[in-house]
Amino acid sequence: MRLATIAVLLIAPFVAQFVYKWWTNPLRKIPAAHPLSHFTSLWINYVRWRSVENATLRRAHEQLGPVVCLGPNEVSVNCVKGGIREIYVGGFEKANLTESFNWYAFFTNFGEPNMFSTARNKAHSTRKRMLSNIYSKSVITASPVLLAQVSTILYDRFLPRLACAFSKETPGVLNINPLLNAATMDIISAYIFGLKSSSNLIDDPQQLSWFLDLYNSRRSFNFWPQELPALTAFVKKWFGYRLVPQWVDKANKDIENWTHGMCESAAKVMSEGVANIADAPIVYEQLSGALAKEAKKASQDGSGHSFLAASEVLDQIAAGFDTSGITLTYVLHELSRNTQVQARLQRELHTLSSPILLSSSPTLPDGKVVDALPYLHAVIWETLRLHPAIPGPQPRVSPPQGCLLGSDNSTYYVPGGVRVSASAGLLHLNEEVFSQAHEWKPERWLELEKLNEDKRRDMENRWFWAFGSGGRMCVGSHLAVYQMKYIVAALYSNYTTAIVDDTGIEQSDAYTAPPKNSELLIRLQRLDS
Ligand code: HEM
Ligand SMILES: *[C@@H]1O[C@H](CO)[C@@H](O)[C@H](O)[C@H]1NC(C)=O
Ligand SMILES: *[C@@H]1O[C@H](CO)[C@@H](O)[C@H](O)[C@H]1NC(C)=O
Ligand SMILES: *[C@@H]1O[C@H](CO)[C@@H](O)[C@H](O)[C@H]1NC(C)=O
Ligand SMILES: *[C@@H]1O[C@H](CO)[C@@H](O)[C@H](O)[C@H]1NC(C)=O
Ligand SMILES: *[C@@H]1O[C@H](CO)[C@@H](O)[C@H](O)[C@H]1NC(C)=O
Repeated sequence: MRLATIAVLLIAPFVAQFVYKWWTNPLRKIPAAHPLSHFTSLWINYVRWRSVENATLRRAHEQLGPVVCLGPNEVSVNCVKGGIREIYVGGFEKANLTESFNWYAFFTNFGEPNMFSTARNKAHSTRKRMLSNIYSKSVITASPVLLAQVSTILYDRFLPRLACAFSKETPGVLNINPLLNAATMDIISAYIFGLKSSSNLIDDPQQLSWFLDLYNSRRSFNFWPQELPALTAFVKKWFGYRLVPQWVDKANKDIENWTHGMCESAAKVMSEGVANIADAPIVYEQLSGALAKEAKKASQDGSGHSFLAASEVLDQIAAGFDTSGITLTYVLHELSRNTQVQARLQRELHTLSSPILLSSSPTLPDGKVVDALPYLHAVIWETLRLHPAIPGPQPRVSPPQGCLLGSDNSTYYVPGGVRVSASAGLLHLNEEVFSQAHEWKPERWLELEKLNEDKRRDMENRWFWAFGSGGRMCVGSHLAVYQMKYIVAALYSNYTTAIVDDTGIEQSDAYTAPPKNSELLIRLQRLDS
């Protein structure tokens, strides 16, 4: 009896504190995705650990509306007004002032920060200013260097590789997924390092599978270091137990070393002079120059900065090749199932004054001309909508003074320091903006003129979020669209495609969401036969 009283007296303050904290937490008023959400983050962590976050958030928003509480310090939004406009265009930081927890620190390379992993907006925008010009749409679509690089990669590597598929026992049948990843890696690394210093994964299947194996092997080990970095470090330090196996660290080191090799090669080209315009390392030269200038201003010697540049460019090749490869895989999959769309696209491609044919002289049509093809644009855009390569969520932290989220009937005050996020994969399924949202219908992007101004802007600008929005939006979106358009144009100018085996084509439930199976078997057929 006396023991019980003592126990109650001991526990009571904790219970009281818990109840008080819960009672004074404004998030208590936001609908909970799970009965435990207002009390503990165990549930949402369990959801993430099981890789069912996309499906879970979708159900939660369907049932509870555009603002949902996921944990005692976490909210998910699924709306533009009172949602992505406030959080992303409004420039919420990627981490707290104390930087106690930065979800994006996981994307650090060489132990050095890059744009994507940088927590603070101020440091981030200094870096972004160094790069935004060379990645702008006007520079990308008019760059003679990039055009020369893409021309070589498509005519000398990509189209011949497709032609090779006919010299096999099953003519025209191939697993297109790795080839698409190779093409995007070769193009992005060419723009960064120059053609001479970049990868040639299309022509080197061995290196391609070496790289893709390294890159993909790490995917399933994101949860612990990204969501619970302190626990992960604690368990390793005190129990000697690795939640992330050692070979994942080794894979990261190998990828870093590979990237560093390309950096050194580009630096050599810069010092020896560029002989062929395609060898100009556009991004690396701009970035290393700007970093050196910055270091000089801060009167340090520039020596430590080779790894800053390397960290930045590794982020760009990783962010760029994978996402574009995923998108292209779905473009090909959808086109292969929709023969009428495919035929219409081919008719459009044949209107090009210099068509991209295997037999023609290797000059690509102008970047602006390819960019302006309306049906090709619609096909790419619709794929980015229905199969966003990064469906999210994109976590940010509410500012110290707090904020209001949601709109109309349901506006909630959210205090400072709360993890808030939205997901492209969910925004893109809004039936009011994208009718028959689960259907792949490129035509919807051609019918924009028929809509009133407000509806059109909803579709084009407000709810389309494949590249995010605000100051931390994708810096490579124009390069991504440029290369995807050329690759699709080159392929469908000469071939039709049909599906042979698409088992496991569904997107995985992850931040970056590749198909569950990395094989997509298609059959190519020459257009003239
Ligand atoms: C279809 C292709 C692509 C998709 C869907 C995509 C998507 C995204 C998204 C959603 C973000 C924003 C993340 C956030 O808000 O935190 C982002 C950021 C970024 N992307 Fe892309 N991306 C693509 C291609 C590329 C390419 C080709 C590059 C190459 C340069 C690239 C480089 C980056 C970088 C450096 C950032 C960080 C930007 C910053 O922090 O300011 N991406 N991307
Ligand atoms: C997310 O989940 C919904 C519902 O389960 C599904 O329709 C959609 O395809 C998923 N999106 C991604 C990118 O996995
Ligand atoms: C690092 O990359 C270079 C090529 O750039 C290669 O020769 C070397 O073997 C690699 N080192 C390790 C440890 O993988
Ligand atoms: C807001 O309330 C009005 C009237 O009570 C209702 O018609 C409308 O559907 C509600 N909107 C939302 C987003 O719940
Ligand atoms: C931000 O910092 C506050 C105060 O230290 C903390 O309570 C909160 O959990 C932090 N939020 C995030 C998302 O790290
Ligand atoms: C590519 O397509 C064009 C026009 O459809 C055709 O003339 C040419 O022979 C094709 N080349 C190959 C190798 O299929």
